[in-house]
Amino acid sequence: MAWRPGLGVPAVVLMLCLLLHLRASVAQVGSQGLGCPLRCDCVPQQRAVLCAYKQLSAIPEAIPGDTRLLDLKGNKLRWVEHGDLAAYTRLEELDLSENAISVLEPNAFSDLRSLRVLRLRANQLKLVPMGAFSRLANLTTLDLSDNKIVILLDFTFQDLHSLRNLEVGDNDLVYISNKAFLGLVGLRELTIERCNLTSVSGQSLSYLRSLTTLRLRRLSVAALEEQNFCKLGGLRGLEIDHWPLLEYISPHSFQGLNLSWLSITNTNITSVPTGALRSLVHLSSLNLSHNPISVLESWALRDLVRLKELHLVGTHLVQVQHYGLGGLRQLRLLNLSDNDLVTLEESSFHSVNTLETLRVDGNPLSCDCRLLWILQRRKTLNFDGHSPVCAGPVEIQGRALNAFSDSALFDHFTCQRPKIRNRKLQQVSAHEGQVVSFACRAEGEPTPIIFWISPQRRRITTKSAGRVTVLPEGTLQIRYAQMTDSGTYICIASNAGGNDTYFATLTVSGLPLDAALVANRTYYVGDLNDTNLNDTRVFLKFTLDLKTILISTAMGCITFLGVVLFCFLLLFIWSRSKGQHKNNFSVEYSFRKVDGPSASGGQGGARKFNMKMI
Ligand SMILES: *[C@@H]1O[C@H](CO)[C@@H](O)[C@H](O)[C@H]1NC(C)=O
Ligand SMILES: *[C@@H]1O[C@H](CO)[C@@H](O)[C@H](O)[C@H]1NC(C)=O
Ligand SMILES: *[C@@H]1O[C@H](CO)[C@@H](O)[C@H](O)[C@H]1NC(C)=O
Ligand SMILES: *[C@@H]1O[C@H](CO)[C@@H](O)[C@H](O)[C@H]1NC(C)=O
Ligand SMILES: *[C@@H]1O[C@H](CO)[C@@H](O)[C@H](O)[C@H]1NC(C)=O
Ligand SMILES: *[C@@H]1O[C@H](CO)[C@@H](O)[C@H](O)[C@H]1NC(C)=O
Ligand SMILES: *[C@@H]1O[C@H](CO)[C@@H](O)[C@H](O)[C@H]1NC(C)=O
Ligand SMILES: *[C@@H]1O[C@H](CO)[C@@H](O)[C@H](O)[C@H]1NC(C)=O
Ligand SMILES: *[C@@H]1O[C@H](CO)[C@@H](O)[C@H](O)[C@H]1NC(C)=O
Ligand SMILES: *[C@@H]1O[C@H](CO)[C@@H](O)[C@H](O)[C@H]1NC(C)=O
Repeated sequence: MAWRPGLGVPAVVLMLCLLLHLRASVAQVGSQGLGCPLRCDCVPQQRAVLCAYKQLSAIPEAIPGDTRLLDLKGNKLRWVEHGDLAAYTRLEELDLSENAISVLEPNAFSDLRSLRVLRLRANQLKLVPMGAFSRLANLTTLDLSDNKIVILLDFTFQDLHSLRNLEVGDNDLVYISNKAFLGLVGLRELTIERCNLTSVSGQSLSYLRSLTTLRLRRLSVAALEEQNFCKLGGLRGLEIDHWPLLEYISPHSFQGLNLSWLSITNTNITSVPTGALRSLVHLSSLNLSHNPISVLESWALRDLVRLKELHLVGTHLVQVQHYGLGGLRQLRLLNLSDNDLVTLEESSFHSVNTLETLRVDGNPLSCDCRLLWILQRRKTLNFDGHSPVCAGPVEIQGRALNAFSDSALFDHFTCQRPKIRNRKLQQVSAHEGQVVSFACRAEGEPTPIIFWISPQRRRITTKSAGRVTVLPEGTLQIRYAQMTDSGTYICIASNAGGNDTYFATLTVSGLPLDAALVANRTYYVGDLNDTNLNDTRVFLKFTLDLKTILISTAMGCITFLGVVLFCFLLLFIWSRSKGQHKNNFSVEYSFRKVDGPSASGGQGGARKFNMKMI
């Protein structure tokens, strides 16, 4: 009963040999559907012959004639000739990836009329000869990625009317001939990736009438040309990724397209291409991540009325301006992770009520009154598992917004109204050509923004270029002062908590001092001194346009009344001295003295002047 090594080993070897022999002879029975080639695995039910990674250097013999799937991935094939596969006319899927194929004969696959999937990924192809894919009218998927193809010739794909997916990425493509894609009327998806292409010609793309998705990744294209995609009316998705040289997108780039998603990522564009986006009114998702876009300007996306998702991740965004998301009435998802935002104000949105998902994590957020709107919605907004975290003020540094209790709310998320420091009146007289500066510093939480209003009601900010500008710390600087600069300047310090104002007056004199200037000075500067400036400020309380005009007008009226009064006094004296009453033309002028009944007479502070004139 025991195991007898003396006899056992040779017996097992013999058995193995017999078995192998048997299998080999079965394989050699031929293509009657019974055999399976040496070293391959067969799944007869699926009519599949699997020879992946078997060190084969030629297409094995004895493949059953009715094979539908032939997998030759990861072998050492060097070429495919016309005769090699001619017998397998029922083949539907052929995988030749990861071989060393450098030569494809014309008509290499032309007998495989049933072929639907052909994979030639990761080979050594430099050129696809014309006719290599001829007559493959049922082919739906062709993978040519990761080869060394330099050029795509005209008519390469012309018989592939059913082709839906074409992969040509990871090649050394430098040129796609204008008619290379001719015939690909069924193509739905195209990916061109990691090529040395420097342009994508609109004409070559124009044959792809059924294209719905186009991915163009890792290209060295420097500009999107006008109307490049104008024939692709069926395109729904366009991806432009890793184009480090792309800096400019012309306003007509996307003309003719009706996209529902667009992704322009990892390029060198510094602002949202508002003009180009204008025509994409059906866009529902936009990804502009990883571009150096530091400011999302007001109304930059205004035409995207159906946009539901916006991704601006990792763009070094420092500011979303008021109405930066203006026009996006249907925005549901906003992804602003990993930026440099200190805040995100409610005023940036068209309406925050549509918003469902918000990601602002990875930003140095200052938890003051500007973020109160997020806090109030912290239980209903979806933070996608990444709640925003306070980077300041120090007391609550590092706390997640969704961790605050209701009672703690108003202790922290507050703002402090700006206060202008050092309110000494600045009244400056200068000569034409001088440099004039007016200081204006303010404190408040968050740090107030300072701007000035000129006598001409023009807004002057740190961004104003030219003679008159505001220095970063808030000082108004007027270079080469001119007489027309004379007047009252208003400094406004403003933050989310409110604003504060302050006045400064400038009188610029030329040589000779002319009468018009005196008049202007009187009008604007008036008799502004410390006392009545204070009154003025209290009265103004900051509605610039209307109230400042009223003040100016009021001052003008006082001056005017003074002049009128003076004239009447002269006339009065003159008429008294004449002592005559010749005329029936009389004028009556009266005014009330505000200071009370200090005046003489029993008329209770009112004086009357009666005048008769010649
Ligand atoms: C191509 O596909 C169609 C249906 O998809 C089929 O009817 C036809 O027989 C196929 N052609 C060949 C040559 O297999
Ligand atoms: C394509 O570009 C890569 C890197 O930029 C370079 O190594 C390669 O030689 C280029 N190929 C061709 C065909 O120019
Ligand atoms: C991107 O643009 C900046 C300036 O706008 C330039 O300095 C940089 O070299 C550009 N990057 C590339 C990869 O061209
Ligand atoms: C654009 O696409 C939308 C669907 O995304 C469709 O409803 C609309 O009719 C299309 N417009 C045109 C002009 O093709
Ligand atoms: C947006 O683009 C970036 C970079 O290509 C990508 O990582 C990210 O997944 C995209 N986001 C979405 C929602 O598609
Ligand atoms: C936001 O962007 C990040 C980075 O691209 C991504 O991982 C995340 O899935 C996005 N979130 C949503 C909700 O799209
Ligand atoms: C100043 O604050 C008031 C409310 O305090 C606001 O109505 C007004 O618009 C603000 N003005 C400016 C210029 O910010
Ligand atoms: C005075 O003001 C008027 C209008 O406000 C202007 O046209 C005129 O040039 C000014 N004169 C001087 C000397 O500034
Ligand atoms: C300021 O003007 C008022 C009248 O406008 C005057 O009564 C007051 O004396 C003036 N104050 C100074 C400091 O000039
Ligand atoms: C200005 O008004 C404030 C109160 O509004 C008052 O405390 C201050 O004394 C006034 N300054 C002058 C110069 O009248």
